[in-house]
Amino acid sequence: MSRPANTPRTLAIVGSGVAGLCAALQAVRLGLRVSLLTKGSLGDGNSSCAQGGLSAVTTQGEATGDSVASHVTDTLRAGAWHGTQEAVQELCGSANDLVNILEEHSVQFDKDAAGNYQLGLEAAHSAHRILHAGGDATGAGLVAALASAVRAAKDAGQLDLIENAFVVDIEVTEADQRSVKYLQEDAIDQLHVDAVLLATGGLGSLYAASTNPHGATADGIGLAARAGAVISDMEFIQFHPTLVDPQLYPEAGMISEAVRGEGAVLINELGERFMIDIDERAELAPRDVVARAIHAQYQAGHQVFIDARAVETAKGAGFLARRFPSITARLKACSLDMTLAPIRVVAAQHYAMGGIHTDTQGRTSVPGIYAAGECANTTVHGANRLASNSLLEAMVFARKAVHAAATDEPGSACDLNGLVVGELPETQTQAPMELKQLKDLASEHLGVYRTGDGLQQFMSVLDSSAPVAQAPRAQSELNNLYTCARLIAYAAQQRTQSLGAHHRLDANDQEATAHTIRYGWVLSGVQS
Ligand code: SIN
Repeated sequence: MSRPANTPRTLAIVGSGVAGLCAALQAVRLGLRVSLLTKGSLGDGNSSCAQGGLSAVTTQGEATGDSVASHVTDTLRAGAWHGTQEAVQELCGSANDLVNILEEHSVQFDKDAAGNYQLGLEAAHSAHRILHAGGDATGAGLVAALASAVRAAKDAGQLDLIENAFVVDIEVTEADQRSVKYLQEDAIDQLHVDAVLLATGGLGSLYAASTNPHGATADGIGLAARAGAVISDMEFIQFHPTLVDPQLYPEAGMISEAVRGEGAVLINELGERFMIDIDERAELAPRDVVARAIHAQYQAGHQVFIDARAVETAKGAGFLARRFPSITARLKACSLDMTLAPIRVVAAQHYAMGGIHTDTQGRTSVPGIYAAGECANTTVHGANRLASNSLLEAMVFARKAVHAAATDEPGSACDLNGLVVGELPETQTQAPMELKQLKDLASEHLGVYRTGDGLQQFMSVLDSSAPVAQAPRAQSELNNLYTCARLIAYAAQQRTQSLGAHHRLDANDQEATAHTIRYGWVLSGVQS
């Protein structure tokens, strides 16, 4: 039975970081009947942890010599030219409008006394173009403002908000309809909708050391893969250079790249500034380059520190605390102070460039399922994401995806031109695998450096294992991480050359054509 004419389309949005929140507000604006499901409370997740900011060439930036074209080039270059020009153009060209929309939703970007944006610099950007809020609390500022607008819409009866609802499956029920099954208080419930937008965030829980919160369990990737969607570019996992060593200070968290943008440097225990010999941009080289250099220092028996003391000397006492109040407070709670001493850091999993394959309107390969934010692969980030492009991407493409969900003809899906799609074989279940074992193996084989032998070994273990957890929700999360680990391992094995964040120690030559091939994967035995 299809939807009667003139009734609003129904949309389920899964996830309530900035992608889900922006999508919900856009869906209300377009008159959709929308349900926003989140596995925690509204706004929980990775977005609110974002420190650095939102990269955007605004009209102010253009007036002072920056340009959208330059943002496009920086994004493509940082991504090792593996990103798609059309998608990157959409991303960067939509930034100014997005900033205006966010301000209409009461987001307060930091401005100087004259009312101009204070623009930060981060690695591999050729201009100061990072807008921030609350100094280093941009994600939290965005989430607070957008979540408050979503709550107001809920109170006005314009949307349904379903919190503590963990989505376990998306199925086709009848022509042009999807059933979203979710677990809430140990019971399964379901919604029937015209379209689903997955905005579930990242996969950091697959790794022992990650900047992501524990809830980053690759849920959208697992759901989409089980629904038959193509998942692409999974070999490209980004490692952030400066997580305070979690073995020493588990609660200290990440130190934003913006701190290096203000002049902090990286040194080893001998005081050597090793980045100077590696890249002319030194500490502001693209993140994959800096993460590899840090990893190499540890492998050579050194320790690595971020040293921000000279910043305070150059910019005046109190500068770092004013510019980075959240980082300063978190460090202080661990008895650390970046104005007084260098701080020990490691490179840690931070972001997935790949994900559910989409076009520039958020359509996946499965009609009725859309994706946005970190769980999606819009192909803007290529092989390595440019700093502070993630919040921008999440919000720009979430809004476009909602527009597509509101207007698409039934059966619309992204096309897969230019994608080499392989099938992940079915597993032969033998040994149980718990989360700790999965994390340890993924950290060993899917880290900054990979080898064909290591990947092969990991794939064999994975393919003969069954993920096992104690409770239904933990089991579903582990299933998603396990699927994700298989996708990364198969993709990393297939790409025998190094490119961007995917670094093969056993690669022979850089193939001139390496960046032109994009691999996608489907699970065997599932049908969309
Ligand atoms: C950071 O503040 O260093 C992280 C920003 C990002 O991931 O783009």
